[in-house]
Amino acid sequence: MDGNTWESLREQCLACQKCALASTRTQVVFGTGNPAAEVLFVGEGPGQQEDEQGLPFVGRSGKLLDVYLDAIGLGRDKNIYIANIVKCRPPGNRDPLPEEREACLPWLRKQFSHIRPKIIVCLGRIAAQVIIRPNYAIMKEHGQWEEKNGVWFTATLHPAALLRNPNNKPLAFEDFVAVREKIREVCDHTY
Ligand code: URA
Repeated sequence: MDGNTWESLREQCLACQKCALASTRTQVVFGTGNPAAEVLFVGEGPGQQEDEQGLPFVGRSGKLLDVYLDAIGLGRDKNIYIANIVKCRPPGNRDPLPEEREACLPWLRKQFSHIRPKIIVCLGRIAAQVIIRPNYAIMKEHGQWEEKNGVWFTATLHPAALLRNPNNKPLAFEDFVAVREKIREVCDHTY
């Protein structure tokens, strides 16, 4: 199969058997949104509802994510793409193991090569530590920006963490407002 088109990439990913999560998943969660988007959001991995529906961020934390996205004029299926570090649910929602991340990362890299986003927003510590830096300190560094090869990277608190600790919601909201500013600065067809 030719891996050069978005659709063939998706088909190959949906058939992936590269790690043990393949045997416990219900569905692979490839991602959702507009593959021509300038802004890519990356979460950690599917939870139970995502595993059942085959779509990222459809549970409670996804509903909260949608509120923040809507507040800054973004929407899945409109002007962003949403993917995860691992495409299959770790049993019991445990953190993905290093070997699972390693096995899965080539899919995200290929998604990145197709989308060629101008901005990447990491949702939570795991995504930030995989994508930005292994020692990324999410509570200290969220909302900061760094540029690498013409792509702007930032991270914000994971919506599931905000559900556990609602006092941090204003911090995340500030990060989303900063995302809107960065989009205005570097994107040309998001708004
Ligand atoms: N949490 C994530 O990190 N990703 C999802 O898709 C759902 C919940």
